[in-house]
Amino acid sequence: MKLAVVGTGYVGLVSGVCFSELGNEVICVDKIQEKIEMLERGEVPIYEPGLKELIESNRNAGRLSFTTDLADAVRRSDIVILAVGTPPLPNGEANLSYIKDAAKEIAQAMNGYKIVMTKSTVPVGTNEKIAAIISEYSVHHFDTVSVPEFLREGSAIKDTLNPDRIVIGTDSQAAAERISALHRPLTDQILLTDIRSAEMIKYASNAFLATKISFINEIANICEKVGADVTKVSEGMGFDKRIGSSFLKAGIGYGGSCFPKDTQALIQIAGHVDYEFKLLKSVVEVNRDQRFNVINKLETILGDLSGKTIAVWGLAFKPETDDVRDAPAFEIIQTLIDKGAHVKAYDPIATDNFKKLLVHPEVKYCGSAVEAAEQADALCLLTEWKEFTQFSIEALQKLLKRPILIDGRNVFSEEQLAGTPMIYYSVGRPGMN
Ligand code: UGA
Repeated sequence: MKLAVVGTGYVGLVSGVCFSELGNEVICVDKIQEKIEMLERGEVPIYEPGLKELIESNRNAGRLSFTTDLADAVRRSDIVILAVGTPPLPNGEANLSYIKDAAKEIAQAMNGYKIVMTKSTVPVGTNEKIAAIISEYSVHHFDTVSVPEFLREGSAIKDTLNPDRIVIGTDSQAAAERISALHRPLTDQILLTDIRSAEMIKYASNAFLATKISFINEIANICEKVGADVTKVSEGMGFDKRIGSSFLKAGIGYGGSCFPKDTQALIQIAGHVDYEFKLLKSVVEVNRDQRFNVINKLETILGDLSGKTIAVWGLAFKPETDDVRDAPAFEIIQTLIDKGAHVKAYDPIATDNFKKLLVHPEVKYCGSAVEAAEQADALCLLTEWKEFTQFSIEALQKLLKRPILIDGRNVFSEEQLAGTPMIYYSVGRPGMN
């Protein structure tokens, strides 16, 4: 099949590359000339394991190309995939201006029947708005289909090529068959639904996963007080198939470009129909508070943080990505600065992106984990990069001025700590808080 993918962010780029890997002819479109030039040079604007290699092999096979010319890409394609961003507005609602602009441009370029398939996360009812815009600006027949995306950053290619399910929302039988055929090489687990339900499935899924995280974080907070071990609690819960073991890792709360944005957007969606999503509001609140536990624990040990040097390991919102959007590290570092601490920060790959968010005389970005930890009054581990887990407690002790480690991701084990003088606080583990 011939596909045009509009928007080369995470979703657009990864989807486009994976569809070309399946043998389709794919043209990826972006308005940002610089991004397209990078991709044409074989450089990848985002860090995603395996993506660079896959782009290269599919370009060499002649199935994948990049352009800023949306009209040309649309004319040469049967299916147009909308994958532009829907960033949050100040009130938490999704900003649909990129979607609407792209729909208009697609309509104006159409030269015959097209399927317009939306992968961007959009509020319920948006695909109907897209259809209305296309009808206004094009005389050609078309169908709209909502195919929400469930990939995770850091494992985007694996997730796209091995999805748990594909959701296809459309009111057109012909489009449903065509889009099912496009995805069938990936899985048989295809759910056909109406458009509104497909749009809702995406928000409900992300909101549910965020709920699991906030739930286990609250359980962890209680574990700290009653002397239970949250890692054992989540293990024990996870054996129950109705609960499942994933997304029950306690820590410093979720970040990234999806959960924070989509939970807020769903609260807004509900609000627009006069429904208060009380549970989800609490999930968001718990998540906001959770990151500050790192600060509380530091203060419990060190007292006043003013003048103290705090090392921070990990700036990305999770490992295997250079994405720092809504990363807990940002607010934690900001609070440390407000409390008068000096911060020495290190991340294996996200430092450059983090610097775009925060440049401050009290924050020194370091070139290595060792440099950050050296002579610090305490070390806070905020992202569970593999590199950090390879340090022994003895090695850390030698680097730090005081043996204080706040492990926000429960990376170190009781065995590793045993017999060392390290003052160690983790999340929801007895004797380790
Ligand atoms: C998330 C969803 O997992 C994807 O299914 C979805 O497609 C994507 O959002 C999206 O809407 O585009 P992503 O944000 O890339 O994917 O990352 P996750 O692996 O889900 O992690 C999100 C955050 O939750 C991270 O900050 C992570 O540290 C945290 N988390 C995750 C926990 O604190 N505990 C857990 O058990 C799992």
